[in-house]
Amino acid sequence: MNDKQYALKKDTEDPLKFFRNAFYHTPNEIYLDGNSLGKLPLKAKENLVTAVTEEWGKTLISSWNFHWLDRPNQIASKYARLLNLNSDEIIIGESTSIRLYQVIYALLQSKQFSNHLGTDSLQFPSDLYILEGIAKNESLEMSVISYSQENHAELKLLKKRIKDKPGIYCLSLVSYKSGYRYPLKLLNQWALKHNSIIVWDFSHAIGAITIDCKETKTLIAVGCTYKYMNGGPGSPAFLYVHKKLISLLSNPIKGWFGHRSPFTFSSQFNPSQTIERFGVGTPSILSLTAIEAGVDLILEAGIKAIEQKSISQSNYFISLIEAQLLPIGFTLETPLHPYERGSHVSISHKDAWPICQALLDEKVRGVKIIPDFRPPHFIRFGITPLYTQYIDLWDTVQQLIFIVSSNTYKNYSDDQPVVT
Ligand SMILES: Cc1ncc(COP(=O)(O)O)c(C=O)c1O
Repeated sequence: MNDKQYALKKDTEDPLKFFRNAFYHTPNEIYLDGNSLGKLPLKAKENLVTAVTEEWGKTLISSWNFHWLDRPNQIASKYARLLNLNSDEIIIGESTSIRLYQVIYALLQSKQFSNHLGTDSLQFPSDLYILEGIAKNESLEMSVISYSQENHAELKLLKKRIKDKPGIYCLSLVSYKSGYRYPLKLLNQWALKHNSIIVWDFSHAIGAITIDCKETKTLIAVGCTYKYMNGGPGSPAFLYVHKKLISLLSNPIKGWFGHRSPFTFSSQFNPSQTIERFGVGTPSILSLTAIEAGVDLILEAGIKAIEQKSISQSNYFISLIEAQLLPIGFTLETPLHPYERGSHVSISHKDAWPICQALLDEKVRGVKIIPDFRPPHFIRFGITPLYTQYIDLWDTVQQLIFIVSSNTYKNYSDDQPVVT
């Protein structure tokens, strides 16, 4: 399994290989960003051109009635299929950070759970800031559970905290640094048993692994659509709320798109009785237009097939890392068990940033490899089965060996950029 032949054979036999043609690619470039921005689906570009030239350009304001007002619902119903939800339990729009703020505040005001807020040290910084901000504004107690390692959660500790301090917790299903995946159903059941709720952030999980909200008893989730969903830079986020909670939660940001009938221009706020009560302002139509092609491709390929390929590719990549990179100073940071990880594989090295720069430099060996760097010493490789090839993973490992064994990375500075 640890050779180039294996990669070539797997790429030839790959049942999803034709999906690669649905994306834009740059020659001599391997895209393993893990995964802050998915690639551009060609159909997204086509849809955008139509929205700009035909809808914005020609039908102008009447496009709201003909095309745009329904577009968020149209997209939401596709996301609902992917997550096994009812389409009236999910809304698309705003950013993950806004969605999290809305729903945590709404939960606090609903008094359905005790007002203790909790998260852990693997949490994405924006989520942490949102929770801390709310805790501070409302003078609430908040716990951030700290683990001895930054690459996985200690479930015993997490469960104990939920049991000892019931309340509203927020966790990222797949951790952004290491790719560690929490046991979704087990933790939801535990939370329920201990009068708590977990608000899940699916940003690094959606589009990469199978998520069945009904089967896993998930009640609330948020997430972004620009990673494995290939929705485009800054594409709108989603918010899922289980139907039994919708009417109990009140949107703290009372904009007109959360109104029952915004176009009556009433001076009284009368909230929508549906998930649309979480609407705020005018939907970003061009961004919504861009995200449809990505979700369509995932539904067409099937999330189970995507997940199977991700497991197989990650296993191959991890076995190459173990055999060829651990001996030269790298550490594997992603769990070995497929159901304990998402679809990115992280390694660490004391010189991670200079090594990343050498990977990005096409002049090194004629190919540019794009991972992403997470300070202080993580290199993250996103495996997106719709376009990642096995041979890309082989080539990446060979490039890393070259960069380290030839000391090439020493030609690059240690100064870190703003966006990595
Ligand atoms: C896990 C996670 N949560 C939240 C965010 C923030 O999302 P947004 O910029 O849409 O608010 C990100 C962004 O990358 C993320 O990875």
